[in-house]
Amino acid sequence: MTQKYGHRPPILLTLTILPISLILILNPLIPLIIPKWIFKFSTSLSSLIKEDEYKFPALQANLGFSLLAFIISIWLIPKVSESFILKGLKGRDLLKSGDKLNGPWVPESLGLPCASLYLALMMLFIPFPFSHLFKSHSFSSPETFPQRELTLYLSSLLSLLTATLLGFIDDLFDIRWRHKLPIPIVSAVPTLLVYYSVGGVTSIVLPKSIVGWLSSIGFGGFMKGNIVDLGPIYYLYLIMLPTFTTNSINILAGINGVEVLQALIIAISISINDLIFLPIWSINLLNLFGFKNPENGRILNWAIGEVVNRHLMSLYFMIPLIGICLGFLWHNWYPAKAFPGDTFCYFTGMAFSAVAIQGHFSKTLILFFLPQIFNFILSCPQLFGLVKCPRHRLPSYDEKTNLLNPSKVLFDSSPPKKTIIVLKLLSILKLVKLEYDVDDNNNKEYIKSSTNLTILNFLLIHFGPLKEDKLCILMGLIQVLGSLIAFIIRYGVGSWFYGGERR
Ligand code: UD1
Ligand code: MG
Repeated sequence: MTQKYGHRPPILLTLTILPISLILILNPLIPLIIPKWIFKFSTSLSSLIKEDEYKFPALQANLGFSLLAFIISIWLIPKVSESFILKGLKGRDLLKSGDKLNGPWVPESLGLPCASLYLALMMLFIPFPFSHLFKSHSFSSPETFPQRELTLYLSSLLSLLTATLLGFIDDLFDIRWRHKLPIPIVSAVPTLLVYYSVGGVTSIVLPKSIVGWLSSIGFGGFMKGNIVDLGPIYYLYLIMLPTFTTNSINILAGINGVEVLQALIIAISISINDLIFLPIWSINLLNLFGFKNPENGRILNWAIGEVVNRHLMSLYFMIPLIGICLGFLWHNWYPAKAFPGDTFCYFTGMAFSAVAIQGHFSKTLILFFLPQIFNFILSCPQLFGLVKCPRHRLPSYDEKTNLLNPSKVLFDSSPPKKTIIVLKLLSILKLVKLEYDVDDNNNKEYIKSSTNLTILNFLLIHFGPLKEDKLCILMGLIQVLGSLIAFIIRYGVGSWFYGGERR
């Protein structure tokens, strides 16, 4: 029997992962649930659950929540798909054979159940990072409770909730992209206020050569050593960050799996970056790679105190997001049985911005968006009206071969001069492919068509035609390559640019 909604969920995998996830979640709770006097009588039990056995007990629970998120999302999507279709939340899979009447129709906006599940699990998770307070009874008054940390969690959740709502409104009412561009600014306000309240850094570190040059032209007064305080300009950058992260995922879209795959790889990259800051590494491993003071369990010898907490919080948000993305990818993978909608793009984009702002690593985050930056810059002439921008710029589908080719934007007559200059420049850089025709009236050659200005069409110009899933895999590999370059820039050649040992 074929499955009507979603791809068939994996029963064996579920039965394996579910108990593991529950054990991981419940294990840190056991010392809280079981009365203390039981431990006195049972030495075997107390040796089983030594209080300080794990450096980060909440991290274990977090991993449990991530596995749970993965399994629940796999089972949830097929269950809710019919309701979405009945409410009219469906989209035609444009890169499959069919038509506007017969479809194939795929439930749209399923980022909504994903975001709801994520938020629910993150709300259930909130007590875990504070569980040591309940255990040791060290919490006696509101003054001694780590309110600051709690505020960071709550404001991030609020930003995520707002982004989800705005994304869903966009899915329902199809707001014109020009109008929806600034929407995420609103969702970022709570996060930014909390950033301000904890005395967020507004300075950047400049390489010595640039410092020398700026001093020579009279800007030395604005710098302390090689540090420049950007003040309000830095806040302007932070306020633009969610607009970029949300929309840049939304415009690198249109083939099955691509929105979710890029979010997954970015979430994994952020998690790896967070893990670098935690003192959890084995002495042998650190010895093997020749790190200093391996007995401390740290890769970055200077990563202590506040910076560890910030990256721990980021990890708490990213690990369950990886679970959600993997679970949803199960159904969104070619041939897609569920579409993410703008809700998913807004919600994941905001999650990345929120952790990067709260974790003070917004510049590193930008490095994980290299393919999106390329796609955005390439898209600019279409986004800002220099070149015609059709409603959909996704590749074009050839029914006969089942392959994708670059899609084109057609010009009825010769486009304006500035459009011609931009297109010819992009063509010289091999970013677009132009077609020419001769005007019957004046016998002059003019640009008849150009490929749409997206990274997917650019890849198809050079590596196409490709099948839809192959193009998605290629895009995923490029995202991975982008992250590798990001790590090299951040911790290799450019560590001076990112402040090296700045906390
Ligand atoms: C953005 C892009 C648009 C692209 C669209 C695809 C810009 C400025 N906008 O618009 O060019 O065509 O995303 O998502 O770059 N769809 C598929 N297969 C998929 C995913 C989506 O066919 O794997 C189609 C479905 O018909 C679906 C629709 O795209 O209903 C969703 O489009 P939507 O997210 O509303 O488009 P935008 O975000 O406005
Ligand atoms: Mg979209």
